[in-house]
Amino acid sequence: MAYTAVLVGCGGICNAWLGPISETDKLNIIGLVDLNEDAAKAVQEKYDLSDAKVATDLDALLTELSPDIVFDCTVPIAHKSVTLTALKHGCHVLGEKPLSDSMGNARETVEAANASGKTYAVIQNRRYMNQIRAVRKFIESGKLGKVTTVNADFYMGCHFGGFRDEMDHVLLLDMAIHSFDQARLISGANAESVYCQEWNPAESWYAHGASAQCIFEMTDDIIFNYRGSWCAEGLHTSWECDWRIIGTKGTLRWNGDDDIKAAIVQKVDGWQAETEEIQIDIEEVEEFTSHKGVIMNFLKCLEEGSEPETICSDNIHSLAMVFGAVESAEKGSKVSIN
Ligand SMILES: NC(=O)c1ccc[n+]([C@@H]2O[C@H](COP(=O)([O-])OP(=O)(O)OC[C@H]3O[C@@H](n4cnc5c(N)ncnc54)[C@H](O)[C@@H]3O)[C@@H](O)[C@H]2O)c1
Repeated sequence: MAYTAVLVGCGGICNAWLGPISETDKLNIIGLVDLNEDAAKAVQEKYDLSDAKVATDLDALLTELSPDIVFDCTVPIAHKSVTLTALKHGCHVLGEKPLSDSMGNARETVEAANASGKTYAVIQNRRYMNQIRAVRKFIESGKLGKVTTVNADFYMGCHFGGFRDEMDHVLLLDMAIHSFDQARLISGANAESVYCQEWNPAESWYAHGASAQCIFEMTDDIIFNYRGSWCAEGLHTSWECDWRIIGTKGTLRWNGDDDIKAAIVQKVDGWQAETEEIQIDIEEVEEFTSHKGVIMNFLKCLEEGSEPETICSDNIHSLAMVFGAVESAEKGSKVSIN
């Protein structure tokens, strides 16, 4: 059975959705919505969606078409209203990150989704990678012992232009959600508090907050250290971050790409323990990766009646790390995360 869907927000990121969607027969895009009708028409033409209705008013189009699903590719300030409108029409929703533009709006949206009996999940495409699954599997095997420390470095020099150059807290609000969500997946823990120092380095081409360092206290006595910058020229890390995970029996390093290695204690005798180095295999556990992985998994969950792992009620824990870090940076002190 093919699900019918309306996609809202026909800007840059919708290409990461419509490419994969055009490769599956499980979805039928019956409507495209954007405040800018020309943007929706351009997308209709690019993806050969001549049967899809183009509109600027989501509410009216949902009344007319009654789709199964709404895909939300709008900007963060619109995520709450798009999702609430879709739920009111009895649609499931898969939306772009971040869940919402504030914790208050996020809570309201999660409550509405819970009350509706429909599924609202968020795209966290950086979970849908064979590499991060291999890291998690190795940790679950217990070979590292109990995880005590997780470090992630994110260093990029991105000259985007546009809204990112002008916005406040650019790294924390626009990018760090990916890394924080990955830290939750890797550690299996949620954040309880954060201290964040945020700054804009000399000669930064951003208006505010291109660099940040955060220390999160996570559940299970894990410390997660994040160091990031969008204003760091040269020797970039991967978009997935460069990771060091320390356990009571050894250390794992993942370069965010295909290099995952661990050193596991064999014998403690003398000044430094004897360790064995292991190169960790990356198995093809994800049938589909990135955006396609999240979208196909979402459809599978609808078919099975199960919950996607990025369901809004779970994803709000990743968002809480972002807004906790922003609050800490503004106050200049450690804050708790509820
Ligand atoms: N997952 C990722 O890796 C990733 C990457 C880039 C962007 N994003 C996210 O995708 C979202 C969109 O980003 P983008 O780069 O495509 O932005 P964009 O500005 O290119 O496109 C957004 C589109 O949404 C439309 N829009 C805004 N409010 C609307 C509303 N209420 N109803 C209908 N249309 C509306 C705008 O007219 C615009 O065409 C953001 O939440 C962003 O954080 C995610």
